[in-house]
Amino acid sequence: MAIECIRKRCCLAHGRVSMGYIKPGFVVLATLATLFLCIFAYIYDFSLMPVTHPRTWFNIVNQTKLYNAVSGGLSGKINVWNFLTNQQTIGISTTEKKTTASIRTEYIFIHQYVAHPSNYHFILDEPDKCKQDPFLVLMVPVAPHEVNARNAIRSTWGNESSVQGKAVLTLFLVGLTGGAEAQQQLEEESRQHRDLLQSNFVDSYFNLTIKTMVIMDWLATRCSQATFSMKVDSDMYINLENLMSVLLSPNTPRQNYITGYLMWDQYVIRDKNSKWYVSVELYPESKYPTYVLGMGYVFSNDLPPKIVEASEAIKPFNIEDAYVGACLKRLGINPSGAPNPSQFRTYVNDPKSTDLSKLITAIAGSPEKVIEFWQNVKGHK
Ligand SMILES: *[C@@H]1O[C@H](CO)[C@@H](O)[C@H](O)[C@H]1NC(C)=O
Ligand SMILES: *[C@@H]1O[C@H](CO)[C@@H](O)[C@H](O)[C@H]1NC(C)=O
Ligand SMILES: *[C@@H]1O[C@H](CO)[C@@H](O)[C@H](O)[C@H]1NC(C)=O
Repeated sequence: MAIECIRKRCCLAHGRVSMGYIKPGFVVLATLATLFLCIFAYIYDFSLMPVTHPRTWFNIVNQTKLYNAVSGGLSGKINVWNFLTNQQTIGISTTEKKTTASIRTEYIFIHQYVAHPSNYHFILDEPDKCKQDPFLVLMVPVAPHEVNARNAIRSTWGNESSVQGKAVLTLFLVGLTGGAEAQQQLEEESRQHRDLLQSNFVDSYFNLTIKTMVIMDWLATRCSQATFSMKVDSDMYINLENLMSVLLSPNTPRQNYITGYLMWDQYVIRDKNSKWYVSVELYPESKYPTYVLGMGYVFSNDLPPKIVEASEAIKPFNIEDAYVGACLKRLGINPSGAPNPSQFRTYVNDPKSTDLSKLITAIAGSPEKVIEFWQNVKGHK
């Protein structure tokens, strides 16, 4: 960085000094030559100069509230975080005079991104759940403490084990609880309901991409026999009858298929105060590829292993649904519009005047609303 500044200053000074006493034609030539040299030096510098200060997660993300959690992650499990330092990690290794072998190891880690499920393992698992050959598996990412959200789902759409004669399964995925007592409660809940999966990553909003990739991993390794899966948020109303009708339609492909609320041409949010802020370093392009909104997307169950594999080559960023979109783009798979796109609703302004019985998804927003929406529909039958 310092060298680059010095070089820029040299170029400027050169231009200014030349003006005084040399013929204009020569000035133009000299300036062009200098400019060319500057550009050449700049490119050369970019790829070969060792970097003296590692670019760390908090330099890039710079969100104060994340600072502590992340610096903890940095000191603990440094290799996992190397994806954030991208190519420059190699430079760091060089300056630290590491052996060729260790540079190679770091290089491999760069491709084994933090969101890749191979970095995690299950603490709570239900490896036999899919022996019942479910047709559709609903995977709900939820925070460990959100037991009310889980119970609302268990008493509504999560309690449907058969829809139009097809077996349906609902499972919840949580990360670490961060406390022994909370962990005990979670394990008790798991014994009672047998519907909890827990993986050993730090559970936070920022880490939703990890959560989604762990869901994909579970589907790929424990549930390959399912025909369709759905990733659905814990505050959603889901109408399984209508969803099943779509999935059972002969027009619905059973391979390379993903549908939901399509997001086209979405600009990456660069406002640091936004919940959805993504730095240029994490995702350099200005727009996301087409993706399906994370509240609830449905996919043929051949996709999870493909997405996990594609993710090995795609640097993670904290917008889980757009990240899945990036993996799909790499796979050459386009998300499909739903047969009736208006069935995938986000917010419902007035649930009383909206015919929820015609929808597939709607954001309820709270456990109470999940139950209320559900009762509205069941009551109207
Ligand atoms: C974040 O950015 C602000 C202003 O841009 C700066 O003052 C602060 O030091 C940065 N914090 C970190 C952790 O990099
Ligand atoms: C699930 O549905 C069954 C009947 O279909 C009912 O007996 C049971 O109480 C329900 N479970 C929950 C958690 O509401
Ligand atoms: C995300 O998860 C990783 C792995 O568990 C952890 O090291 C990191 O601190 C988490 N980040 C946040 C912001 O929670």
